[in-house]
Amino acid sequence: MPLQLFKLLLLLLLFKCLKAESPQCFHFTWIGPYDNKTNIVKESCDARVGDFNEIPCEMPLVVTPNDTVPNVKALWKNETLNREHYLCQMSPGYSCVKYSYIFKGGIQNITYMCAKVNNSNGCYRETQSTGMQVEACVCTSKLGLIPCNCSPTTQSQQILGWVIVLLSAFIVLK
Ligand SMILES: *[C@@H]1O[C@H](CO)[C@@H](O)[C@H](O)[C@H]1NC(C)=O
Ligand SMILES: *[C@@H]1O[C@H](CO)[C@@H](O)[C@H](O)[C@H]1NC(C)=O
Ligand SMILES: *[C@@H]1O[C@H](CO)[C@@H](O)[C@H](O)[C@H]1NC(C)=O
Ligand SMILES: *[C@@H]1O[C@H](CO)[C@@H](O)[C@H](O)[C@H]1NC(C)=O
Ligand SMILES: *[C@@H]1O[C@H](CO)[C@@H](O)[C@H](O)[C@H]1NC(C)=O
Repeated sequence: MPLQLFKLLLLLLLFKCLKAESPQCFHFTWIGPYDNKTNIVKESCDARVGDFNEIPCEMPLVVTPNDTVPNVKALWKNETLNREHYLCQMSPGYSCVKYSYIFKGGIQNITYMCAKVNNSNGCYRETQSTGMQVEACVCTSKLGLIPCNCSPTTQSQQILGWVIVLLSAFIVLK
């Protein structure tokens, strides 16, 4: 009997270890300034950006009071909130990405996600012909710590080529 129990315990432990998580990334889209906040429930990525294009969008969609950029550190610390809802598992081969649209210095929207990218860590900016800037910051989270795609949008760093965010962007079920 004790042996059985021991086995069971071992199994449980193993299960816990297996389940025990990869590092995590934030995972949602802040849609930017948005007038009617109660209307957000009716919004979806499909409705906003459609299916077959390069624009990243990850459910859930998020709005903020006063339309300020999301305070992800507060989100991470907030214990009343179901934060798993805003996180994805950074599986092997994946990175955390923070993808921002910026126009004349103003951040239009931000998408946080787990994605496969073949660039190394860092921030990459591209200015489109319309003047819209797109910034992708790539990083690698550490287990148990706040996801690395939490840093504020940067003082522009290297302007290096372009990130190929494979938009098979992986919506992880916890
Ligand atoms: C805001 O959104 C709600 C929910 O969709 C809708 O019922 C309401 O009419 C909207 N208000 C305005 C001012 O558009
Ligand atoms: C973010 O802003 C850009 C530029 O205005 C827009 O093209 C894109 O659709 C927006 N993304 C989302 C998810 O709303
Ligand atoms: C929103 O703006 C008002 C007025 O500027 C300020 O009093 C309030 O603290 C702000 N709320 C948040 C959540 O930042
Ligand atoms: C945590 O999130 C809840 C729900 O959004 C919010 O009402 C509360 O003010 C947040 N708490 C902190 C400490 O930010
Ligand atoms: C990233 O992928 C592109 C296209 O597949 C390839 O041309 C490029 O060499 C790759 N870059 C790196 C750093 O692997």
